[in-house]
Amino acid sequence: MERIHYKQEINMTETLMNRINELISHYPEDKRKSALLPVLHEVQDAHDNWLSIELMDKVADILGILPIEVYEVATFYTMYNLKPIGKYMFEFCQTSCCCLNGVEDLMDYTCEKLGVGIGETTADGLFEVRGVECLGACGYAPMMQLGDFYKEHLTREKIDQLIADCRDNKIILHDK
Ligand code: FES
Repeated sequence: MERIHYKQEINMTETLMNRINELISHYPEDKRKSALLPVLHEVQDAHDNWLSIELMDKVADILGILPIEVYEVATFYTMYNLKPIGKYMFEFCQTSCCCLNGVEDLMDYTCEKLGVGIGETTADGLFEVRGVECLGACGYAPMMQLGDFYKEHLTREKIDQLIADCRDNKIILHDK
């Protein structure tokens, strides 16, 4: 776990708690921990797409498990973010089909256009670029994930349009 301690405002709204309780209800009472992954997704989505230590502790409390059990999961999977990230995270698939179809050139192009390196956030806090493993949409290469959605058959022109749409607040990140 990173040593830098980032501050986060925690807001467990009634809507969020209802959703968490609904997820927990899918499992037996003595297996509440089984809801950990989907609960972390919900909580992260509701908190600017990242999880502070305090927020993970809150999840542990809700599920009745130890904080370390939450840290273990959150630090293992790359889809959980442990520090503030850009609002629009461009997660390019860097596995074989996407590489063969030019994803690395598109990543370089995107980074250059945004003025950031891989894993860096733009100064306005809007964008971040990451490389991830196969997202299971190999037939649509080159592709990336943006929020809950896949952007497929990418080209430089599509990247230009996506960035413009993000800046114009036209991009929906979550499907709920
Ligand atoms: S190789 Fe890119 S989605 Fe599978």
